[in-house]
Amino acid sequence: MKNVILIGMMGCGKSTVGAILARRLGMELNDTDAMVEEIEGRSIPTIFAEEGEEYFRGCELAVAEDLSERSGRVVACGGGLPLRRDCIAPLKASGTVFFLRRDPGAIYDSVSMEDRPLGQAGREAFLERYRRREPVYEKWADHIIEGHSTPGEAADMIMEVLDK
Ligand code: S3P
Repeated sequence: MKNVILIGMMGCGKSTVGAILARRLGMELNDTDAMVEEIEGRSIPTIFAEEGEEYFRGCELAVAEDLSERSGRVVACGGGLPLRRDCIAPLKASGTVFFLRRDPGAIYDSVSMEDRPLGQAGREAFLERYRRREPVYEKWADHIIEGHSTPGEAADMIMEVLDK
């Protein structure tokens, strides 16, 4: 089975939806953030603080390349991963990409930004970052998942696409 790849803004629910999907499909869940943390032996905020964003993006690339050579995985991507073509292109070639679209204001107001270094600059900066990223997410998506009110519903919508 091809990989199922979830992209979207930080906090949109990729990991939660990914866990539901993986359970329903009997597939393994791979969360790129968790993989980077495991390889590095430190948290994402610590990696950003000690090494900076570019270093983190390099770790993300190594994980993306590794996953793109595997199959039958649900891959929950860090929110910034699709910004680099060399990260997302091989992953896209390994499966089907779903963009989980959620209103960025609703995300910011309901999700903790505590462990998200790029979510620390306030609401307006978050909305602006989303505005810049949305076309990138749209560009790489095979399918856009929107209008769902719970992670379970988003997973249902993805299952429907996969069943076709
Ligand atoms: C980032 C999103 C985070 C994490 C890192 C950078 C981003 O992942 O990869 O903090 O650039 O949007 P989530 O999307 O899981 O929060």
